[in-house]
Amino acid sequence: MSQTLIRPGSLSVLDRSQKINGTYYIQTWGCQMNEEDSEQIALCLADLGLTQAATPKQAQVVVLNTCSVRKKPEDKAFSFLGELRELKRARPDMVIGVAGCMAQIRADEIRRRNPFVDFVVGTAQVAQIQGLVEDAIQTRKFQKRLELPERKGTVVTDVPQRLLERPGKLKAFVPIQYGCDKFCSFCIVPSTRGRERSRPTAHIIEEVTKLAALGTKEVTLLGQTVNSYGKNLAEGRVPFAQLLRAVAEVPGLERIRYTSPYPRDFKRDLIDTIRDVPEVMEHCHMPLQAGDDGLLARMKRLYTLESYAEIVGHLRDAVPDIGLTTDIIVGFPGETDSEFQGTLAAMERFQFDGAYMFKYSPRPNTPAAELPQVDQKVAENRLAELIKVQTEITLQRNEAQIGKSFEVLVEGPSPKDRGSLQGYSRCFRMLHFCGDEKLQGEKVTVEAVSSHLWGLRAKIV
Ligand code: 5AD
Repeated sequence: MSQTLIRPGSLSVLDRSQKINGTYYIQTWGCQMNEEDSEQIALCLADLGLTQAATPKQAQVVVLNTCSVRKKPEDKAFSFLGELRELKRARPDMVIGVAGCMAQIRADEIRRRNPFVDFVVGTAQVAQIQGLVEDAIQTRKFQKRLELPERKGTVVTDVPQRLLERPGKLKAFVPIQYGCDKFCSFCIVPSTRGRERSRPTAHIIEEVTKLAALGTKEVTLLGQTVNSYGKNLAEGRVPFAQLLRAVAEVPGLERIRYTSPYPRDFKRDLIDTIRDVPEVMEHCHMPLQAGDDGLLARMKRLYTLESYAEIVGHLRDAVPDIGLTTDIIVGFPGETDSEFQGTLAAMERFQFDGAYMFKYSPRPNTPAAELPQVDQKVAENRLAELIKVQTEITLQRNEAQIGKSFEVLVEGPSPKDRGSLQGYSRCFRMLHFCGDEKLQGEKVTVEAVSSHLWGLRAKIV
């Protein structure tokens, strides 16, 4: 009979057939793909027998899921590791692992600066976490797992392992494509997540079917350039629009979102699908990045302002109430004042419902990092100006919604607005409204009564 060693307040070591007695904490930075990876990490750790702790202080296993898209989240991860150093000094049997994009590209530096780290695991090796945690408990020997699957020819044979058995929830992220083949000159993602790989359609449908059976009503399909989906599949090319139609057929599923589409790959069949398939939500987050063709060319974005405008025009013709949001970078190397004015003009022209706006952050081993940089003060001022312009537009667009009705999927009590329920409209506006908590998980129709920067206050009709 195997023996389980249980010491209070510490991890117990056991044979493989047994569970680990202890708790875990996961700290996540970055995009929805990282959030989703963290959920997979949590499932792996729970499967080992660990339960979730409220703070890193209380946890025996701590995993950092890091982001490298800009310098700021990297700094945050290093400062978090600084705090963990003290915890680990007090409790040497703690296990500390670093996952995600920064783990992929800065593994050796992470370990050199933080010798107490037990393992580093890259973006394509999340499923290795169970073994890494068990090994760390048993041997205390540092390990790293950083392999990124390469494509063989054009076909992907290596599909990541995923745990599909998970607790039911109202909304879920489903990755459909990993990595990126676009190589924008500012972007680190091809280094951190590797070449573009699509998941076979059957896997995606299986996962969504399982989710829907457990009560999931809304899925968000994830990919770096999500609408480029389906190019390198053994089963042959599957256009993204076709995948959307297949996912829409899953019984019980009510809403489908996707993020983020790449403008050049936004084809007519996708616009028709958004218009015609009731499950596909009327929202599109389509990163523009800059409003000047010279800038776009230097960013290696494979479209022009006019080709982007054409897509927006077709989208709004087909689906007049579509919610449109975007990402913008200011202070890209060599950005002139007139180029920046072009970006401001584009914001006025496209009237986005919302935008994520960033100051350019040079990333190691990307082409743009080698170019002459814009003065930081100038870039900061431009970012402030851009935010001011877009804030005004968002406020106006929200104000124009007052009196309109929205279908909302009720998520539950609003954490920020006590006594109110909250949920998103099909065009991805946040709505707060009074109602019975029993409505959680239901779709209700509300009417907007007042507008704010974050969204709308409404009443149930
Ligand atoms: N600096 C600033 N912003 C960046 N983004 C990507 N790379 C950088 C960078 N080096 C932004 C883009 C992208 C979003 C996820 O992050 O706008 O769409």
